[in-house]
Amino acid sequence: MPAPAPLRVGLLGLGTVGTGTYQVLARNADIISARTGRRIEIVMVFVRNLARAASILTNDVVVVDDPLLVVNHPNVDVVVEVIGGTTIAKDLVLQAIANGKHVVTANKALLAEHGSEIFAAAHAQGVVVAYEGAVAVSIPIIKVLREGLSANRIEWVAGIINGTTNYILSRMKTQSLSFGQALAEAQRLGYAEADPTFDVKGIDAAHKLTLLASNAFGVPIQFDKVHTEGINDLELADVTFAERLGFCVKLLGIAKRNSSGLELRVHPTLIPTNHLLANVHDSMNAVMVKSDAAGLTMHYGAGAGSEQTASAVIADLVDLCRSFETKHQHRVPSLAFQQSAITAIHVREIADVMTCYYLRLDLINSAKFEQDVMDVLLQAGIRIWRLEVVKHPIEQEFCTMLALTKPVRNSVIHGAISKLGELPAVKGHVRSIRIETLD
Ligand code: HSE
Repeated sequence: MPAPAPLRVGLLGLGTVGTGTYQVLARNADIISARTGRRIEIVMVFVRNLARAASILTNDVVVVDDPLLVVNHPNVDVVVEVIGGTTIAKDLVLQAIANGKHVVTANKALLAEHGSEIFAAAHAQGVVVAYEGAVAVSIPIIKVLREGLSANRIEWVAGIINGTTNYILSRMKTQSLSFGQALAEAQRLGYAEADPTFDVKGIDAAHKLTLLASNAFGVPIQFDKVHTEGINDLELADVTFAERLGFCVKLLGIAKRNSSGLELRVHPTLIPTNHLLANVHDSMNAVMVKSDAAGLTMHYGAGAGSEQTASAVIADLVDLCRSFETKHQHRVPSLAFQQSAITAIHVREIADVMTCYYLRLDLINSAKFEQDVMDVLLQAGIRIWRLEVVKHPIEQEFCTMLALTKPVRNSVIHGAISKLGELPAVKGHVRSIRIETLD
């Protein structure tokens, strides 16, 4: 029998991820084709810098400086989009789909913001849009949710899905760096996105959480419903006090379903120091899933990197090889659920979400003023399960009150925080961070 024809790939972009994809495919060509039964060949590459292409690619690859030549070329079976951004990338992906080509992308922003349109177009055309490289790259978490846990009713998915912020938080904790110092380090090491506000404000994590939630719960892509807070306002003092109380601060993405609806949130979170997620350091990622049959599972790995992302992109290409001849309705659906089964679940307003809280405030050192604080909390119905009063190290007339609350509605705690801020004895802002035990 003649060898099956290769899968012909058109690559859009030859930056870090594009180069990694090309190099890993070349290096591991034999072992990959032993798995797929056919070769995966990059036949055409769009690149802005032709000189760079010459230093990386072999002569048999057609190099073009117009991306439309790739998405319109009849010899391209699948387009790999790794140029990033949400404007040109969107047009190219939709054009590739309209031309009947499969698409593999690592572009979380594109799918979180325009996924509904893109997946609907792909479904109508009977082509695949695969995106393992968009979320926590070394962890095959899309495959886990879509296939490995497909027997389960998932209760929640939560994790550290942004390496830059995890690196910053790790350095604040271990080296007592300020947020700004740790961010500068992360940027020097190349962890941060081109625009670090996407990382530090939680937007990148919210993009990824959007995709995880759709795969976990069969809900539409709804990035705009994710409550998103970053770590940009976090103070070193809170990282230090959290540790004193037996917690560490992590930026978590949390998607949780309960009888009141769905919670979609990204925010700094206190978790107990003995929690598995508390031991995910530096730029590593980890995702935990709680499901009814499998129980609690945890998935750990690098969240970024050239070959790490390439590994995910190529895994999608391998899947495509294996399902190339399969009728579209028999393929693994893009968002884990059949398109017709995707159903919106009410997403709860953040004001209604209940969690435990960590509170920190500085106030004039006096038992009476401490009682005033407790009275405000009591009047709001907020119960405290741990309270510590620490002498201010420099300004002796002040102390710091640290309080850990029982579960309380977001709107209630914020009402109480406003009242605390009005007490004349309270100095500066009252700081608050949610607490999760995730068990
Ligand atoms: N800036 C991202 C992160 C890269 O730090 O996780 C990977 O998505």
